[in-house]
Amino acid sequence: MAGRAGVPPRLCLLWCALRLAAAARPSAPHLVLVLADDLGWGDVGWHGSAIRTPRLDALGAGGVRLERYYTQPLCTPSRSQLLSGRYQIHTGLQHQIIWPCQPSCLPLDEKLLPELLKDAGYVTHMVGKWHLGMYRKECLPTRRGFDTYFGYLLGSEDYYSHDHCVLIKAKNVTRCALDFRDGEEVATGFKNLYSTNLFTERAIDLIANHKTEKPLFLYLAFQSVHEPLEVPEEYMKPYSSIKDEKRRHYAGMVTLMDEAVGNLTDALKRYGLWDNTVLVFSTDNGGQTMAGGNNWPLRGRKWTLWEGGVRGVGFVASPLLKQKGVESHELIHISDWLPTLVHLAGGHTNGTKPLDGFDVWKTISEGRPSPRVELLHNIDPMFVDDYPCLGIDNRTSLPQINSFPWDNTLFNISMHAAIRHGKWKLLTGYPGCSHWFPPPSLFNESKIQSSDPPTKRLWLFDIVRDPEEKNELSEKYPHVVKKLLSRLQYYYKRSVPVFYPDEDPNCDPAATGAWGPWA
Ligand SMILES: *[C@@H]1O[C@H](CO)[C@@H](O)[C@H](O)[C@H]1NC(C)=O
Ligand SMILES: *[C@@H]1O[C@H](CO)[C@@H](O)[C@H](O)[C@H]1NC(C)=O
Ligand SMILES: *[C@@H]1O[C@H](CO)[C@@H](O)[C@H](O)[C@H]1NC(C)=O
Ligand SMILES: *[C@@H]1O[C@H](CO)[C@@H](O)[C@H](O)[C@H]1NC(C)=O
Ligand SMILES: *[C@@H]1O[C@H](CO)[C@@H](O)[C@H](O)[C@H]1NC(C)=O
Ligand SMILES: *[C@@H]1O[C@H](CO)[C@@H](O)[C@H](O)[C@H]1NC(C)=O
Repeated sequence: MAGRAGVPPRLCLLWCALRLAAAARPSAPHLVLVLADDLGWGDVGWHGSAIRTPRLDALGAGGVRLERYYTQPLCTPSRSQLLSGRYQIHTGLQHQIIWPCQPSCLPLDEKLLPELLKDAGYVTHMVGKWHLGMYRKECLPTRRGFDTYFGYLLGSEDYYSHDHCVLIKAKNVTRCALDFRDGEEVATGFKNLYSTNLFTERAIDLIANHKTEKPLFLYLAFQSVHEPLEVPEEYMKPYSSIKDEKRRHYAGMVTLMDEAVGNLTDALKRYGLWDNTVLVFSTDNGGQTMAGGNNWPLRGRKWTLWEGGVRGVGFVASPLLKQKGVESHELIHISDWLPTLVHLAGGHTNGTKPLDGFDVWKTISEGRPSPRVELLHNIDPMFVDDYPCLGIDNRTSLPQINSFPWDNTLFNISMHAAIRHGKWKLLTGYPGCSHWFPPPSLFNESKIQSSDPPTKRLWLFDIVRDPEEKNELSEKYPHVVKKLLSRLQYYYKRSVPVFYPDEDPNCDPAATGAWGPWA
């Protein structure tokens, strides 16, 4: 009898046919998206860092490492593009981040990745850092497509106490309060427990209890390795040779996170999900050199439009990849994950506004050319400065000069903006701190200064040949400059106004003891 034991032979025909059909149509994959915070280009083993990341190295080496992968230079912007698939010029979030007391969140009329995956039949969980606004309940992750949530709503809190301190300017008081939630409830029972351990444990719990036929979407957004520089002593021990104290702490933090990702993938295997899982690992932006991070040999750092700010660490690991153990040099951006994951899920993006992201699955899995040829890094008409750039180059405003041959008729080059088209990258305005920062373990100098005059407002690079942005080519290729300036103007004309409201003093957590919705 060819049929299954207990199935009468005549029924078998039908039963077996159905079974074969089911086997031929693979069920939608589990999707696990791991986001690190402030992990820099020079902070991972496979880029030659002194920091050891054996689990990440191995996952990337067995999957597809994304070596021309871009994020935004900051936290809220990257996360907004990740979950909406849309550039900041279309959501009003062009400028900086959403600060704790600003009445702002990722616009509520945007349909987000978890909602689209829910429509496609997924169970959706989020663990970790939100940072997409929380002034109203409607802004919370549980109202934006996640079935469950465990984490914190702001940024840069204490890893152990989960407290976050904010100066409320209108009241001239500093408030420190808890920022930790389970669902929508304030979670008080987790004091003195390191967040990365907590988040990993919760993620593993969710994996262990995933007993449904539905596919899983897990978005794990670590606090690691953002400042404050805190880590259990034992993780710093292997780094006693790193003299720089910040770097030593930071190295320990990276290694702890590496272990966490290892534990996560072990759990996916242990509970039988791994064979049908696509795991994406990404940073949210470049490393912050003032807080232990590093992007060497790339120029700049977090907050800047130089490669050190936007060229991200990332890879995809999955048994479902058609090609494995390769490096992708195709242009891929953080806004591309939304269409890519929704299509992998068998879902549709009908409910979204026009997307800026592309489905890049065939690029990653099969090595096909990327559908993306252009990337708008950002246009921020309000940008003035980041933190002091080590005492120099901290210009607060640029003189309004028309430096030959670029007048402002094509695009106002005083504006902080950058665009990539093919191999070319054009930057205008003040891109942010312009130095190169060797890792403290490599040189005893903390920076290599750029020789650009402080009035310089336009740069053109062949990024494929010159990823370190050393060889400025605008005078040599004026036609390329003109073309890219007109592309910037094209985007600028289609951008929505920046939404960057004043702080609302009613955000004060004094009454509730926790940061959270107040409006
Ligand atoms: C804010 O308060 C501090 C004392 O806590 C005081 O020194 C300072 O002058 C105040 N600033 C303003 C603008 O009122
Ligand atoms: C990883 O798992 C081991 C063994 O359960 C545990 O001791 C360790 O704390 C975990 N690490 C993290 C970062 O979660
Ligand atoms: C989404 O759009 C596609 C193409 O226009 C259409 O075939 C499909 O039915 C739509 N799905 C839903 C659920 O609206
Ligand atoms: C050009 O942009 C700068 C910076 O945003 C702004 O201060 C200036 O007013 C703009 N100039 C014109 C003519 O729009
Ligand atoms: C930059 O800022 C520092 C302090 O923040 C100040 O001492 C220095 O004079 C500034 N440099 C310039 C060129 O403005
Ligand atoms: C490092 O320090 C030494 C001794 O102080 C000095 O000779 C050297 O020029 C410094 N710079 C580099 C890049 O080694």
